[in-house]
Amino acid sequence: MPKVRSRQEKQIRNNGSAIDMARIPKHIAIIMDGNGRWAKKRGLPRVTGHRAGVSSLKECVRQCSDLQVEVLTVYAFSTENWGRPVSEVKYLLSLLEEVFEREVRELHENNVRVKVIGKRENLPASTLLRITEAEALTAQNTGLVLNICFNYGGRAEIVEACKALGREVKAGVLEPDGITEAMLSDHLLLKDCADPDLLIRTGGEMRVSNFLLWQIAYAEIFVLDVFWPDFRPEHLYKAIADYQGRQRRFGKV
Ligand code: IPE
Ligand code: IPE
Ligand code: MG
Repeated sequence: MPKVRSRQEKQIRNNGSAIDMARIPKHIAIIMDGNGRWAKKRGLPRVTGHRAGVSSLKECVRQCSDLQVEVLTVYAFSTENWGRPVSEVKYLLSLLEEVFEREVRELHENNVRVKVIGKRENLPASTLLRITEAEALTAQNTGLVLNICFNYGGRAEIVEACKALGREVKAGVLEPDGITEAMLSDHLLLKDCADPDLLIRTGGEMRVSNFLLWQIAYAEIFVLDVFWPDFRPEHLYKAIADYQGRQRRFGKV
């Protein structure tokens, strides 16, 4: 496990905004947006931005492990992203494979448990193989849980849960009026994790783009104007410090 730095050191690295190590969000979710604009600003092809974004993710995983965040869930490819040019989609699929092949050993050594969240059906066999290998290798790890949402859509996830409940009703093991929020939650892809406490979106856009629609009901949202390839530890600390300054009421007073 990476060494946990002292609270004092964290305060220095966060440029003055104190992070309370006793109140670190347990589950952080990130919409890693702005790769294309990052590349465009430099006169480079969009895919260069996706490649550059991998380094930001690597560092972010390291920092979250270090801060003892329990779960980090990142949005890497949405069900709507299939609508992008074929060349970009192909690049993103092969990038996932490449990153898994290159990084999974180090993640394993750092006790990170990797899970890929999303529909598996229309993924190429080679991508599926890398995913199952990475999940199997890290399945027993007890450190940070890293959920990579790939071919993920929040609405699709809820529809699948409804279908599962519908099948139970049809089988006569469940009454329609007996369906509860907890039952629906239990059929979602992130059923093993508590809901995100903090949702970060880079790239400046104030929207959720079909990410974890059910689970972010009470997440604190932090939007950064920084493009994902420029996301650095100080931005993570800034988001956490901001989160710690908020009063979460969950509808109460
Ligand atoms: C996010 O960056 C990564 C994916 C959606 C795969 P974008 O590719 O959406 O970058 P922008 O938002 O166009 O700049
Ligand atoms: C959300 O970003 C999806 C990912 C970061 C993977 P998009 O770029 O696809 O979202 P929109 O199109 O701006 O809503
Ligand atoms: Mg985008």
